[in-house]
Amino acid sequence: MNGPKPLIVIVDDEQGILDVVSRVARRAGYDAMTYSNGRDAIAALQTHRADLVLVDLRMPEVGGLDVLRAIRDRNPRCQAVLMTGFASVDTAVEAIKLGATDYLSKPLDFARLEALLATVRDDLDRRRSLLSIEGDVAKRLEFCGMIGRGPLMQELFGMIRRLAPHVRTALVTGETGTGKELVARALHQLGPRRERRFVAVNCSAVVETLFESELFGHVRGAFTGATEHKSGLFELADGGTLFLDEIGELPLSLQAKLLRVLELGEVHRVGSLEPRTVNVHVIAATNRDLRAEVAAGRFRSDLYYRLNIVEVALPPLRDRREDIPYLTAAFVRESSDRLRKPLVGLTPGAERLLAIAAWDGNVRELRNVIERACILADGDFITERELAVSMPQPRAIAPAAAPGLAEGPAAPDLLVTVEREHIQRALVRARGNKKAAARMLGLSRRALYRRLERLDLGDTIMRRRDASADGGESLGA
Ligand SMILES: Nc1ncnc2c1ncn2[C@@H]1O[C@H](COP(=O)(O)OP(=O)(O)OP(=O)(O)O)[C@@H](O)[C@H]1O
Ligand SMILES: [Mg+2]
Repeated sequence: MNGPKPLIVIVDDEQGILDVVSRVARRAGYDAMTYSNGRDAIAALQTHRADLVLVDLRMPEVGGLDVLRAIRDRNPRCQAVLMTGFASVDTAVEAIKLGATDYLSKPLDFARLEALLATVRDDLDRRRSLLSIEGDVAKRLEFCGMIGRGPLMQELFGMIRRLAPHVRTALVTGETGTGKELVARALHQLGPRRERRFVAVNCSAVVETLFESELFGHVRGAFTGATEHKSGLFELADGGTLFLDEIGELPLSLQAKLLRVLELGEVHRVGSLEPRTVNVHVIAATNRDLRAEVAAGRFRSDLYYRLNIVEVALPPLRDRREDIPYLTAAFVRESSDRLRKPLVGLTPGAERLLAIAAWDGNVRELRNVIERACILADGDFITERELAVSMPQPRAIAPAAAPGLAEGPAAPDLLVTVEREHIQRALVRARGNKKAAARMLGLSRRALYRRLERLDLGDTIMRRRDASADGGESLGA
């Protein structure tokens, strides 16, 4: 791989170890920095973005575990390895809890040291290229702006391709954020009307009486305020496609009128008896279960059957987790371009978190989470720390997560800790100003308050504010 050399920081109070390990590391392709005590190392780690730290456990004053703690707090993507002559179980457990990925016992076994250095370097290279490879794959496999590499989406793309030349009405169903609007646009783009208008309207957005006039138009004097004749969206979309989003919200009276248009191909402007002919393809979308709405008497069955002659059902993201890395890669690329940040990848923990999250908000939620994480990230990697605060509910781990992915450092209480620390830090940086802290975290103020309550942080903040009154950290990015 080309690109910068990985940086290793070696911390030991024995000069001999520093000399020998740094020599081996340089030979293995690293830049190496050495420190003979924990305090200097911690200070250096604040300004240098190390990829790997080898640290001696026992040093006077600031010991190896303190260094690990500092790494965990400040640079979670950095790998840490403890070097020690006496690894009691307790210290080993403590070290692992603090994020150490391995330990080397002293006297050092050079073959093992070299193997370790090679593994870490290869993993870094792999990670740096992974995102760009996945991003390229995602780009190549994009279908009308949709990314989907797994079988479910590939099948869906095929279906859209086959249907598009023929559909006159279609119903697109799926949970919120699954991409219904993208599917509607794809059906239009790949159909015979691609050169004509695609008019989108949200059926839940407006008041009933106004909406009728919005859809069908009105004549002068039809109601108070109707000072002019006005054509509706059906007329506007004549010859093209009208996308009726959230059709499940359409009031019953308008459902009857819509059905008429679909059956007869004519509209009546409000206040007029004169029919006007329109030729409009209608694609409707809903995240409701329309069948259940029909059963409950809230949706006309005749309209339902008319619409679902062609139904395109989008699977929720949790049923196509294999797409997550590709979506992620595309979204990271997008955000890093826009933010001009050189993000190159995700740490393994971050990947794992994305793989097992519940994703109730589906692709939209993933996109938002990645975008927020990219804003928060201050290295070239996104870590679970940024994700933890970017995800709406850190506890929302899917019950049936992908096999083999459930174990690992994504335990919910770890997440809560990470989230708590991240919020606390933001509050300190913002000197207790919650509005500013919320902005840093990419949260609304209300969302921040909810979190403070959930995390029992209500009163800590006051203390924190005092603590930081004498000059807090400066805001990095
Ligand atoms: N397969 C996909 N590839 C890339 N981006 C996607 C994909 N699916 C959805 N998105 C993105 O996710 C967001 C939500 O998509 P869209 O608006 O189509 O969802 P929706 O199903 O209409 O949601 P809602 O029911 O909430 O209106 C958009 O930003 C869209 O670009
Ligand atoms: Mg939508």
